[in-house]
Amino acid sequence: MTLKKKISMTVNGQLVNAEIEPRRHLVDYLREDLHLKGAHLGCEQGACGACVKEVDGQIICGCLFLTVQADGSVVETVEGLKKMAFSLLCKSQSCVTTRCSVDFALLECY
Ligand code: FES
Repeated sequence: MTLKKKISMTVNGQLVNAEIEPRRHLVDYLREDLHLKGAHLGCEQGACGACVKEVDGQIICGCLFLTVQADGSVVETVEGLKKMAFSLLCKSQSCVTTRCSVDFALLECY
């Protein structure tokens, strides 16, 4: 029997509540449960950077960071940064929608 822990965090500006197995890594939770697939698993040893996330303003390796450690935190993923960058770009200058769509489509990581 695995005991789960209730947590809540803000992911890309949205409050998320979950019950998590204590040993589950943040990158797995974000990819599998929240379908935020921008981060990937590579080395799973904190060396390659494929799993990088921002938690409370700190850059962390999602492969070494447990989801329960993010309880009460603000988490940003590349998907959130994409949305923010798109918004800022389109607000700050005249935006050619097709060009923006192409540029930001390149940031999609599936
Ligand atoms: S998967 Fe390589 S640093 Fe996390």
